[in-house]
Amino acid sequence: MAEILITGGAGFIGCNAAGRFLRKGHRVVVVDNLSRKGADSNLKWLEGLGGDLRFEKGDVRDFEFLSQLMEKYNPHAVIHLAAQVAVTTSVEDPRTDFEVNALGTFNLLEAVRTSGKRPAILFASTNKVYGAMEDIEIVERNGEYAYSDLPFGVDESRQLDFHSPYGCSKGAADQYVLDYARIYDLPTVVFRQSCIYGTRQFGVEDQGWVAWFSIAAVLGHPITIYGDGKQVRDVLFVEDLIDLYEKAIASIDTVKGEAFNVGGGPENTLSLLRLLGKLEKLLGKKIPVSYADWRPGDQKVFIADVRKAKKMLGWKPTICPDEGVERLLRWVQDNRDLLSKYLGG
Ligand SMILES: NC(=O)c1ccc[n+]([C@@H]2O[C@H](COP(=O)([O-])OP(=O)(O)OC[C@H]3O[C@@H](n4cnc5c(N)ncnc54)[C@H](O)[C@@H]3O)[C@@H](O)[C@H]2O)c1
Repeated sequence: MAEILITGGAGFIGCNAAGRFLRKGHRVVVVDNLSRKGADSNLKWLEGLGGDLRFEKGDVRDFEFLSQLMEKYNPHAVIHLAAQVAVTTSVEDPRTDFEVNALGTFNLLEAVRTSGKRPAILFASTNKVYGAMEDIEIVERNGEYAYSDLPFGVDESRQLDFHSPYGCSKGAADQYVLDYARIYDLPTVVFRQSCIYGTRQFGVEDQGWVAWFSIAAVLGHPITIYGDGKQVRDVLFVEDLIDLYEKAIASIDTVKGEAFNVGGGPENTLSLLRLLGKLEKLLGKKIPVSYADWRPGDQKVFIADVRKAKKMLGWKPTICPDEGVERLLRWVQDNRDLLSKYLGG
């Protein structure tokens, strides 16, 4: 069985990926500094699954640590997810954001390159690398924003335009990851992810909005909508994303050096108001919200064109928002005490 090393493996996407690979009988090396609230609980959950799990506590800012890991292990694939993940935090502390996201990714690439080993390297980038996209015409349809003339969404030929320290640090990392395929022939692949949601996501107001709304609705936390709530995102249930990671690892020679836009695509979108409506229906109660000004850089619409991933990897989203939100909400309801412990309430 293969060895899969996952940085940020105790985070939301990381623990779901680790769980999948453990269940399939692989050895999984989780690398995490456990800085994210809830990460220790995700790790405990993973330990409870059984299987060949190794945990290496450490920080991707520490090059020596990563080098030693590459000496100790011989991974078939490295999934690089460890990151500072919130735009708002990146604005408050751009240096830490840069060190974790840009330097941390560079450290990882260098640790792999200098090890002489050639694992597949998957990098979780973000749709924020495309910036505000102000030239794209937005219209209002059925009470929410929509692209006037982009039926498939935004594809990978879109010009890069890094906004916010987070956009810059992830964007720099995205470009380094691609360049290491070009210059050093490392088998790397970049996924520019839209909103990913699902179980074991300790969503907070600043990051992970689908989970945050669900958690806040169940725990009775106040919800603020920045803007008018008509903003639309394509959303992807975490298990669909992990299907894609698996396919990319299996076909790394075909996709190395490529970047893919990854999200729910035009068929799996949600507006903030539509999500609240679904939650109200599922919970059978009115969810009070208050409104505040738009946050700088908030896009009215983002929908990824996912046809490249479909074409090259035969992948497509399979879990629609109705099903995904219900699964997420069930997890939130089953874990009220845990979520209150980490997120208050
Ligand atoms: N969730 C989304 O909607 C989304 C969208 C686009 C991109 N991404 C990217 O996907 C990746 C995973 O996101 P997530 O939602 O699982 O976030 P997460 O915060 O749940 O997971 C990140 C993990 O990295 C760990 N970590 C943070 N800094 C670290 C450091 N310096 N060294 C080692 N570990 C560190 C945290 O403890 C956490 O467990 C991130 O790179 C993020 O930028 C996520």
